[in-house]
Parts: sequence; C-alpha cells; structure tokens
Amino acid sequence: MCGIVGYVGQRDGLDVVLSGLRRLEYRGYDSAGVALPSAGRIEWRKKAGKIANLEAAIEANPLPSGQVAIGHTRWATHGAPTDQNSHPHVADRVAIVHNGIIENHDQLREELPGVEFSSETDSEVAAHLLRRELDGGADLLAAMRTVVGRLEGAFTLVAVDAQDPERIVAARRNSPLVVGVGEGEYFLASDVAAFIAYTRDAVELGQDQIVELTRGGVSVTTFDGAPAETKEFHVDWDLEAAQKQGYDWYMRKEIFEQPRAVADTLLGRLNERGELILDEIRISPETLRRIDKIVIVACGTAFYAGLVAKYAIEHWTRIPCEVEVASEFRYRDPIIDPMTLVVTISQSGETADTLMAIRHAREQGAKVIAICNTNGATIPRESDAVIYTHAGPEIGVASTKGFTTQLVACYLLGLYLAQVRGMKYGDEIAALLRELERMPEAIQGMLDNQQQVLDLAREFVNEPSVLFLGRHVGYPVALEGALKLKELAYIHAEGFAAGELKHGPIALIREDLPVFVVVPPRGRDQLRDKVVSNIAEVRARGAKTIVLAEADDEEARAAAAVFIELPKLSTLLQPVAAIIPLQLFACELATVQGHDVDQPRNLAKSVTVE
Ligand code: F6R
Repeated sequence: MCGIVGYVGQRDGLDVVLSGLRRLEYRGYDSAGVALPSAGRIEWRKKAGKIANLEAAIEANPLPSGQVAIGHTRWATHGAPTDQNSHPHVADRVAIVHNGIIENHDQLREELPGVEFSSETDSEVAAHLLRRELDGGADLLAAMRTVVGRLEGAFTLVAVDAQDPERIVAARRNSPLVVGVGEGEYFLASDVAAFIAYTRDAVELGQDQIVELTRGGVSVTTFDGAPAETKEFHVDWDLEAAQKQGYDWYMRKEIFEQPRAVADTLLGRLNERGELILDEIRISPETLRRIDKIVIVACGTAFYAGLVAKYAIEHWTRIPCEVEVASEFRYRDPIIDPMTLVVTISQSGETADTLMAIRHAREQGAKVIAICNTNGATIPRESDAVIYTHAGPEIGVASTKGFTTQLVACYLLGLYLAQVRGMKYGDEIAALLRELERMPEAIQGMLDNQQQVLDLAREFVNEPSVLFLGRHVGYPVALEGALKLKELAYIHAEGFAAGELKHGPIALIREDLPVFVVVPPRGRDQLRDKVVSNIAEVRARGAKTIVLAEADDEEARAAAAVFIELPKLSTLLQPVAAIIPLQLFACELATVQGHDVDQPRNLAKSVTVE
C-alpha cells in the first residue's frame, strides 16, 4: 500500500524514481509525486490519479535535473485522492514521502501552532516536525531520529533536505522498505521491483531502523542511533519477469505463468530416499511432533488457500487445524500456546493484518511458519520459519499464481508434518509428490482450453450477478472464484458451500442466473453425488449451470448447461486446476467490460495498514 522510491547516484534521479514508481503503481494508484533538492530548494510535482498524470504535469512544467530524488504512489487513507493530499509533502527546505498511518497526527498538529497545513493527510505533520528540527540546527539524520520518536503507528518515512542535497534519510516501523545496492548508487523502495532494472542486490531493513543513503554508501542505525544489523540478499528474478511480455495484462501473464510457478514451488523438495525436504523449516522435528493444534492465518485469497490447506493438513496429519482471517485473529483472544503451530500465508509478506497476527501468536509462545512469495519481506523475517513459493513477482493486483503456489506450499507443509510425525512414509509421500509434479501439466491443460471460458465471459458480460458453489476443497475454490469476479468486474458474486444452498441462498436462484459448480473427483462418490444433486436443484429453478468436473463424469455433464473439463486429480489437489478457468473468466469478463484488470478500483496489492 503506497509505493516509495528514493535514489542517490550518478543517473538522472527523476528518471530512476519515475521508472520505480511505474513498477510500484500496483501498490496504490490514487496519486503520485516526486521531489528533489536543487539549488537550495525543494522542487516537486504531484498529481491525483495515475502516474501518467504526474508525467504529464512534469512534461508541462519540467523539473531541474538532479541525482538525488524521492517519489511516491499513493493509496489514500487519510484525505481524499486529490493533488493536495498527494505526496511528497513539503515544508520549506524538507520534503517527505510516507507509507503507513501516523495515528497521533491530530495531537502532533496541535504542537505546531502557526503552521499552515496544505493537506488533510496524517503524513504532512512529519514534514513540519522535521523542518522544526532542521531549523533548530539538527542535521537530517538527527532530525529523523527525534521525529520518529514522536510518531505512533506504522510508517516508512523518507526525507530529503534542500540544504543537505546529497543525502536521503529514511525510517521504517511496521511498513516495508528495502535498499538496493548498485555501484556508487543506492535505491530505496517499498519493493525490489522498483529498482530491479538497475540492481538485484538488496539489503533488508529491520523494524525501527533508520537508513542514510549517500553516494558514498548506506548506513543503518536503530531509532536510538546504535549501529543496526542488516541482511543482504540477491533477488532471484530479473526485470524480464516484471514485464508484461506481450500480454495485455500482468494478471493474464501471471495466470499463464502458473505451470512454471507451481513447478518452481516444487523444485528440489524430494531427496534420494524419497523423503520430502523443507530446508527452510528451522523448527526441529521434535518441536513439530509436539504440536497439538495448527492455526492458519491469512487474508483474502491467501485465506482461501488456507481453507484448502485445512482439509489437506487434517487429513494427512490428524492435527486439528483452524483457519482464521488475520484481521479477526488477535482481537478475539485466540487460544494458542507453545504447542500451537501458527501458519501464515502471504504473497506479499507485508500484509499488516497478517503481520500483527504473527506478533500476537509469537507473544503467546506459538511457533510461526510463513508461506510467502517475497524475499526480504517483513512476514518471513518475523516468523520462525518460511516456505517460499518462488512464484516470481506478482504484479497484477488480483492474486493468481500467488494462490496456486500457496496451495502447493500448503500441501508440502502438510506432507512434511505427516512425514515428521510418522503418519506418512517415503512411498506415500513420493506418490503424492509425483501427483503434485504433474500439476504444471494439469494447469497447462486448463490453460490450453481457455477459449471456452473466454467465450463464456463474453456471453455473460452484462450479468449483474454470478454464484459459485463447491463442497469440501471445492468450497474455497468457489469463494476464490467469486472474489476474483468481485474485485475485477465489480459485480455481485458469491461463493457458497453447495450443501448450504438449501439453508437460504437458494432463494437467490432465478431464471438464467449463471452458477458455477465445482464437482469433486469421482473417487469420493458420496461427496460428488451430493454436488451433482445440488446442480440439479439449481438447474430445476432455471439457473444456467456451468459445471467443472472430470471429463468422464457423464452425470455432471448431463446436469450442465456448460461443461468445463477438469483433469483427473485426487480430491485434495483438485483446487489447483479448478481455479484456473475461474481466474480466466474474471480476467476476460473485466477486460471486455473495459476495466483496468491490473489495477482494480479502490484496491492495492499489498495492504500494509490494518
Ligand atoms: C485478492 C488478493 C487479496 C490478497 C490479500 C492478502 O486477489 O490479492 O485478497 O490475497 O490482500 O495478500 P497477501 O497474500 O499479500 O498477504
């Protein structure tokens, strides 16, 4: 949420910052702005709307050149998305950009009598506080140290001082910030995507740290001024991976990348004895054997991956497993203790709700394993162990390859726990892994049949409402299918457990209402029979049934107005393939409706405020 970029080096700072902002636009697209120190003044431009508006403003009114610059792309929290409320906020000699929420901004404003505020944001107060310190004789680093001591809430705060124009100082608390390290040039950004065109070497910053960037190097200290420990890392993807590569949308590209992404999640997981190896799990087998409860915590799509994981983990390990939306978790006083394993799932690794849940769980003594896609992010850093999904950058705001790779990582975790606890042995694990290894092919098969789904999306382009039904692991697939449609096409879409239909939602069924139904494989006959009956119930009431089932399921085919073939998979693994047509459907429907698929309204890719 909100993207921040800073640059110190020999290149044109504005060019670097604008290119970084374009790569971070997925984090927020309510407004954008840049600032640079030049000839003893701060020069800046900022504009409501997408970065294209800012670029037009700069073209109309060019900025001087300079090799130090900062920039911001905003997802509005306090204050409407207007020019005034855009960042940077400038107080005379100082300019700041901010990501997060300064909770005590009202109180801090009262401490600045006589200061004229030009925006309604919480952020502007930080610019005036810095200016006060600088005017009092502090340098930018000392001023930042004093100011962050006064701020409550979450922030990444980046500042430049016109009277010290070779330096950027930034601070972070509960909000992402990474440093990119080039040759004689340094970058600051909310996400490595901003500087991947220039360097793949990065430094992770910890909580409550201040970083100072000059052409001479990077220095990191704690808020108290003590030298701080940092961790260097190398980004394992390149600029090419962060480009659209001929697709109309990042989302479509990411849907089509899923065979590769899932293969990468699975890479190198089996040793020569047929045992599953999860090197990253730094929790001892003894500790994992003592676990008596698992709680999965996540948000949105990642939460739905968690719902699937519950079925798999309980089935394979017989450990009771709860799944909870992260924003609810810590506020209901959950029963967790050192015998609980908390599993968090987060593509971005920065979701504030999930992060707070982790902190709460660790305070209660629970061990936390994160399933995450982003190296250097806060969630893996604050967890006891991490399983990386290795999906590569996900830039489309709606998660696609994030979801399928999370599912696969959850399966790996479930099987690993079963192995450690002696519930599953080499042969069984190897057989399940072999099935997982066929998953990229299964996904590819679904993608190869995209035309049927694209035609369907065009047929339903004016539908005001679509329902999705599933049972068992098909239920979270239904929820995820509905979420994709809501967020991209802005239409009413709901997922239901098919068995719940008769308990209320069936009242929604009407003539020609599109209803997608995910049918379990035929191996689990009772479950499948029930779903086939559910299809008959909605069909009898005139709905248009779009049925996803195994190709040879003739009964399901007969009950379908439209039949989408699924590959033969075990029940627990079916969601990885079943979600593909639902992703394609939402992407295409929104495209035909003329929506911005990559940047749906009101959304941001990584939700770094609670
Ligand atoms: C929906 C979507 C969101 C995210 C959720 C969690 O398409 O992308 O629902 O899944 O905000 O994000 P992460 O996984 O980054 O924690």
